[in-house]
Amino acid sequence: MRIYIVGAGALGSLFGGLLARAGAHVCLYNPSNVEHIRVIQSAGLAIERDGSSLKITVEATTTPDALAEADLVGIFVKAHQTARAMEQIAPKLNPRSWVLSLQNGVGMESEILRFVSGERFLRGVTAQGATLVGPGRVRWAGVGLTRLGRWEGPITSEIEAILALLRRAEIETEYSGEIERLLWEKIIINCAINPLTALCDQPNGVIVHDAELREVAGAVACEALRVARAHGVTLTDSEAVERVETVACRTAQNISSMLQDVRRGRPTEIDYINGAVVREGRRLQIPTPLNLLLTRLIAAGRMLEHPA
Ligand code: PAF
Repeated sequence: MRIYIVGAGALGSLFGGLLARAGAHVCLYNPSNVEHIRVIQSAGLAIERDGSSLKITVEATTTPDALAEADLVGIFVKAHQTARAMEQIAPKLNPRSWVLSLQNGVGMESEILRFVSGERFLRGVTAQGATLVGPGRVRWAGVGLTRLGRWEGPITSEIEAILALLRRAEIETEYSGEIERLLWEKIIINCAINPLTALCDQPNGVIVHDAELREVAGAVACEALRVARAHGVTLTDSEAVERVETVACRTAQNISSMLQDVRRGRPTEIDYINGAVVREGRRLQIPTPLNLLLTRLIAAGRMLEHPA
């Protein structure tokens, strides 16, 4: 299977690298991190985990030349970069390719659907944790479940083949017919972990190891859950908190994607995560003051001192 990863940052490189190791013909595309691509071209991609490093030979490029040959195109750019990335790749996109987005947040799907039919679009979520530690180097800092579904239509044998490949690549993956529920279940996790780790400049484990932050994360998750229930989520408060804490434990060493953005001085996905909860809460007349506060603090770039 030919796979093209659009937005080969931390997570895109991890998925692309693991799929290449499992035998797929993968191309990692990133037009903005030229050094990352150059190192992969000359020395391969290093996936680091538990003190050991796995070297993977994988194609990498800064121009989307071979995109039309892809059976599967993975969209791994940040939520706010989706419109621009789609406009860049659209002229080369093959209408027969499957397009998969495992991006954080909600709301960017409409940008993909401007160029991709709902029948070829796979949307999902992942609890994998990955950090870009240097050019050509990704730390696989947490293992978690990946779930995806077809935007329109039933599962097909081609989708079964994609699922089988992901599983062969050591990416535990499930199919789901309820994408909206998946997305909102993941929003609860990102709402609690991402802004708090970003504000405190700490890896994900702080959410469970710091008793005060644990309480705040739980309250943020329960607030997001009220909104998520309107999108098919049926978790109880304690189940939602447990999910947040399980992901924080399994990815304890990971630097959340939002903290990675903050550390690099880049825009974050806050408007597609906590901001989406606030907007949806307003529409549904559900108060979301904690999510609003976190959205405002991240947008204003307010970093907190975390006690040692
Ligand atoms: O955004 C992230 O960092 C990830 O979605 C997750 C699962 C919270 C792990 O860090």
